[in-house]
This record gives sequence, C-alpha cells and structure tokens, in this order.
Amino acid sequence: LKDKYKLYEDKNRAAEQGGGKSRTDKQHSAGKLTARERIAVFLDRGTFVELDKMITHRCVNFGMEKQHIPGDGVVSGYGKVDGRLVYVFAQDFTVFGGSLSITNAKKIIKVHQLALKMGAPLIGLNDSGGARIQEGVQSLAGYGDIFYLNVKASGVIPQISAIMGPCAGGAVYSPALTDFIFMVQNSSYMFVTGPEVIKTVTHEDVSKESLGGAVTHNAKSGVAHFVGDDDEHTLLMIRELLSFLPSNNMEETPIVPTGDKSDREEEKLQELIPSDSSKAYNMLELITAVVDDRHFFEVMPLYSKNMITGFARFNGRSVGIVANQPAFLAGVLDIDSSVKAARFVRFCDSFNIPVVTFVDVPGFLPGITQEHGGIIKHGAKLLYAYAEATVPKITVITRKAYGGAYDVMSSKHLMADVNLAFPTAEIAVMGPEGAVNIIFRNEAKEERAQKVEDYRENFANPYRAAELGYIDEIIMPRETRKKVIQALDMTQNKSEANPPKKHGNMPL
Ligand code: COA
Repeated sequence: LKDKYKLYEDKNRAAEQGGGKSRTDKQHSAGKLTARERIAVFLDRGTFVELDKMITHRCVNFGMEKQHIPGDGVVSGYGKVDGRLVYVFAQDFTVFGGSLSITNAKKIIKVHQLALKMGAPLIGLNDSGGARIQEGVQSLAGYGDIFYLNVKASGVIPQISAIMGPCAGGAVYSPALTDFIFMVQNSSYMFVTGPEVIKTVTHEDVSKESLGGAVTHNAKSGVAHFVGDDDEHTLLMIRELLSFLPSNNMEETPIVPTGDKSDREEEKLQELIPSDSSKAYNMLELITAVVDDRHFFEVMPLYSKNMITGFARFNGRSVGIVANQPAFLAGVLDIDSSVKAARFVRFCDSFNIPVVTFVDVPGFLPGITQEHGGIIKHGAKLLYAYAEATVPKITVITRKAYGGAYDVMSSKHLMADVNLAFPTAEIAVMGPEGAVNIIFRNEAKEERAQKVEDYRENFANPYRAAELGYIDEIIMPRETRKKVIQALDMTQNKSEANPPKKHGNMPL
C-alpha cells in the first residue's frame, strides 16, 4: 500500500515540477510566473481542481518517446472567481515551450466542452512556442478543434484570453476568436508571422515588441483589449472583468450591492459642458461622476480614444457604457471607433448587459483615408450592432448629435428604449456653420453670420427632437445618475426578439 501511495505522490510531484528547476528559474528571471503560479493568483484560494494532470504525449518522432512530462505542457481544470465557477487552462512554457501537442489540445478541449455544458466562463492563459513541431499535422488538428469550439461557444459563455508570453502563428487565432484579450507589458507578443519571416519576405526590419507587443496590439492594431503591468496585475484585471459579466448567455448580470445612492445628484456636472460648443471636455468625467462608487472599468482604453467603451454599475447592476470622447478628435466617428464600439455593443447584447450610451458626436471623420478604408461598411457595423441589440438601450445626448452619426449612436430610430438629452444638446443634420455654408453659400459674409445665429437658435437644441418624440425627456446634467437608474429599472424586464433567422449578414 505504501508503495502505491508513494507512486501517487511521485507522479504528482513530477507533474507539479513542470519542466524542472532551471526552466522555472528562466521563466522567473524573464519576469513571468509559471502556469501553476498564475492559476493560484487568478482563482479564489484553494478552489483549483486540476484535470488530466497525468496526461503525456504519444509522439515517437525525434526522440520524443524518451521525454515525457506529466501534464504535457498545459495545466487545466476549474475553480472559483469571487465564488463563481470558471474553467481555466494555462500553457506551461517550461514544458516543451508550452507547445500544443494533440494530447495537450485535448486537455484544453475538455475544459472548453465542460465550460460550455455547465455555462461558465473559460479563461485561457497563453504562453507557448506554438504547434508542437515534433507532432506536425496532429498539432494543427488540435488548433483546428479549439478554433471550432471557440466559435461554437461565442455568445454562449464569456471566453477570455491572456497572452503572457509568446503567441505566434496559428496560435493567435484561438485568442482572436475569444471575447477579450489581455496582454502583459514587456513579456507578451502576438503575431501571425514573426520578424525573421517578415525580413525574408518583405525586407522590413522590426522587433518582436514593436511588431506584436502589448502596446502595439492595445494602441495600434486593436487586437487586444487590456494591458497589465505584469502577470499578477493582468490576472487581477481578468478577475475584475468577470465581476461585471454573467456566467453565460442565459443568466442576468450579477448584482454588486452599493452604498452609492441612486438619486445622488452631481452639481459639478452643470458646469461640465462648455458654453462654447467648439470647446472640448472630458466625457470620462461625466461617466465616473454618475456610475456606482465612481468606478469605471474601461475596455480598450488605449485604442481609438475618440470612443470610450467599458463596464460600470448603476445601482448594483452591470452595464456596458459607450460614449463619444469630445476631448479626442472632437469625439468624431471613424473606422476604428465604429468597429471598437460595434464589437463592444455586440458583446453586451450577447450577455444581457444593458447598454448606456453618452452622445457628443460632430459626425463622421471626413477624408480620403476614411472613405477608401471603407468607413461606409465599418460605420454600418455600429449601426447594425445597435439596431440588432435587444438588451435595454439607454441614451443620453450631452451636446452634439449631428447627421448620420446621430442616428448611429443609439437613437430612438434604432429602437433605443429611453432617449434623454441635456439642455445643451444640439440635435441637427449638421453644425450651424456647415449648414449655413451650404444653404446660403451665395450670401455675403455678414448675412451668413446672422444665419448661423438663426440656425443655432432654431436647430442646435434638443427641443425639435423632443417635440417629435425622438427624445423622451430633457434632463439637467446634475440628475443624470438618477435618470439613468430610473430608465434601467423601467427596462429591467424588457422582452424583445429579432425575427427568427439563421443569422444576419453583418457588414464585415
Ligand atoms: N515545439 C516544440 N518545442 C518547442 C516549441 C515548439 N513549437 N517551441 C519551443 N519549444 C521548446 C524549445 O525546444 C525549448 O526546449 P528546451 O527547454 O528543452 O531547450 C523550450 O521550448 C523553450 O524554447 P526556447 O526557444 O529556448 O525559448 P525562447 O524564449 O528563447 O524562445 C520562442 C521562444 C517561442 C520564440 C521559440 O521557442 C520559437 O521560435 N519556437 C518555435 C515557434 C514556431 O515556429 N512554432 C511553430 C509554428 S506555430
């Protein structure tokens, strides 16, 4: 009996040691935690249940038959985050570089299928040299099976990826299919083809970091949504994101009780919107002033800053917030901001998270780059996402809502449930100067100036839209929190469905 228990202990120890001390030291000296350490930081203490700890590969090529490490380069199982069930896998770079063998893929697929069946989020911690080179096409089959599951699970359970080391070649496509990608500053990179291949094919010189590091994908490409300072910070951010999300698409969003009063008024908001409508202000000030405990969890904060997206709570209930940012490019809609907001609205709609939209948009960004880049189809994505969304949609127009951009930004016409406007709102086809320059282009300068004033008085306000019922209520800025909470309460049992169809044909 003793021998049997000892064998059990030895095998467990072997699995827990991963690739051994020297490889673990190398991982640590690169500023990275090991797969097991990451899971320990991520999950509630003592809740991790590991699956398939003893799995080994079956490869007999290139001397692999002599190298077996139990677990085979990925640690997987389930546990709790804030007491709620989640599934997790963490690639272990100390074992064959965390590379994906077919057995390793099957471990990932097992937790993925369980997550789907039980209706709980799946979190993948990526740190891998890619396909297990010694296994060839079997490894590619493993990736393919994972991609398929990513797609099947999309919109059913939240899928979250963290890139905590290399992620290259085909390996990038599983994270790309998930809902959110976190990257770790200075120790993670993602690319389809690396610097050496690029050098050979296009003769371009680029470092790994500049090609596919955390800042590149968060600020430039829009592939990633969050950047953490180090492994621990990144893992804690994932925990925080999960606190806003339901576990699956059949659940309501979790409620986090707050001591913040629902009728709290913010006097300083009366002064936020400058009297000169060409002046900028920071929309983040409005958002943080009105949400529970002034806490806003921004999604993609470094990308397309003219559009703000993120999660917050109103009276304990999570909402997704979408807002134009007048402090950056005047809050204009362009290709990147449309795509950023469209994907966010679709995520919220998939997971029953109401969308609150704050509007201050001068229109679409003019220019050849935008037109030739396809602003028509990319702008249409945001229109499509708002029109398709059946979750409660609450809109607050703070200032400009001009032209087609007015329609796009969760207008009544796209079936928003409650449309509010500040007295400072300007809801019109275009700004007064632009309008007069077109309608009265042949008139003298002084006369045009008068016409601009007339136009401003007649059209650059919320009253025309309110007379037509496109705005339900004009509210004082100070009472925004109370009014949004009333609207969310009123829409809590909203029941609306799109016509039955296989799926729509979103402009891509
Ligand atoms: N398949 C099998 N083993 C792999 C591997 C892979 N795809 N990627 C890395 N490894 C192994 C290495 O052989 C090494 O093993 P060892 O510890 O027994 O020496 C270990 O993982 C660590 O790799 P190493 O190259 O020493 O780490 P690094 O930090 O210097 O470099 C990479 C990391 C990812 C840049 C580098 O390993 C690499 O280029 N890997 C291949 C990437 C690739 O082409 N993948 C296939 C296409 S998707």
